[in-house]
Amino acid sequence: MLTPSLVALGYEDFGEIFVAGRAYLRKRDAVPGFNLAITEVGGAFWNASVAVRDYLLAHSSEVDAYAQQKRDAVARGATLFSSYSRDKEPFVRALRDRAMAWAASQPARIRPLTDEDAEALRALRLRAVRQEPDPFASAYEDERRRTIDDTAAFLRSLRGGDGEMLGLFVGTELLGMVGLRRLEGRRVRHRVTLFSMYVAPEARRRGHARALLGAAIANARMRGGVEQLELTVAATSEAARELYLRAGFTVTGRLANALKDDYRHLDEELLMLLLGDGR
Ligand SMILES: CC(C)(COP(=O)(O)OP(=O)(O)OC[C@H]1O[C@@H](n2cnc3c(N)ncnc32)[C@H](O)[C@@H]1OP(=O)(O)O)[C@@H](O)C(=O)NCCC(=O)NCCS
Repeated sequence: MLTPSLVALGYEDFGEIFVAGRAYLRKRDAVPGFNLAITEVGGAFWNASVAVRDYLLAHSSEVDAYAQQKRDAVARGATLFSSYSRDKEPFVRALRDRAMAWAASQPARIRPLTDEDAEALRALRLRAVRQEPDPFASAYEDERRRTIDDTAAFLRSLRGGDGEMLGLFVGTELLGMVGLRRLEGRRVRHRVTLFSMYVAPEARRRGHARALLGAAIANARMRGGVEQLELTVAATSEAARELYLRAGFTVTGRLANALKDDYRHLDEELLMLLLGDGR
């Protein structure tokens, strides 16, 4: 989609040359010239690159070894794009494996999101609603229109009211989220709504959602007078349903046709957790 526009601007398109999942383009009719790599956020190449970035930031000896590898490749006469890439390839592959293993072993951290997290939160939300639209009331087309400033304003208003957006980080990467908001007004202030529970696919089945849910429940408990948590789950979100039922939520109702796409309607279930019973 993007490539024809770039070609019209004078870029040469090399497609996924040398690296699967990364399109390479370059522009040589300008000084300086440009090299441009395009990849999908959250794709395999993206995840590996983020892991390598964080791994290198944490391991200076690997930075030196990588730099030496590059110098050696040139010294060995690998001065063309193709020969240089081929020469480095075994080292880069092994580095990527070490980085991925290290990233997977990093402890996750959960904390409330602030204005400064707006860009990362916007990217995560966009990815969630685009790749897995069913669980979210917000459509990708609507979400896309929200700027980073809008997202920062949303976080401010949530925190300024009686709510919070919790983020789950592995290394420096925001990989999960859940929001909570207390209802306003004296007759409904005992209720907290949970929304936007999401863990990025590459980080799933490691207990992150359970940890996010635990943190959200603890956060709600700290707000004096809160008695119950409520949320809705789309009928197709089986993993989420299982997560909540295991955590003690019960199904209290079903809203037929709660969500509507171009060609179908989707039911939602209403789930709730009473906080008074020692949970
Ligand atoms: C639902 C979701 C948040 C789970 O994230 P996760 O980090 O993989 O979940 P966890 O590893 O913490 O799993 C906790 C429990 O949830 C349940 N669960 C998670 N994934 C499941 C799956 N694919 N199938 C069945 N149960 C699942 C299990 O009971 C699991 O406990 P177990 O591992 O001991 O069996 C994630 O799949 C997701 O983001 N899905 C898309 C968005 C979504 O549906 N959001 C919910 C909106 S209401």
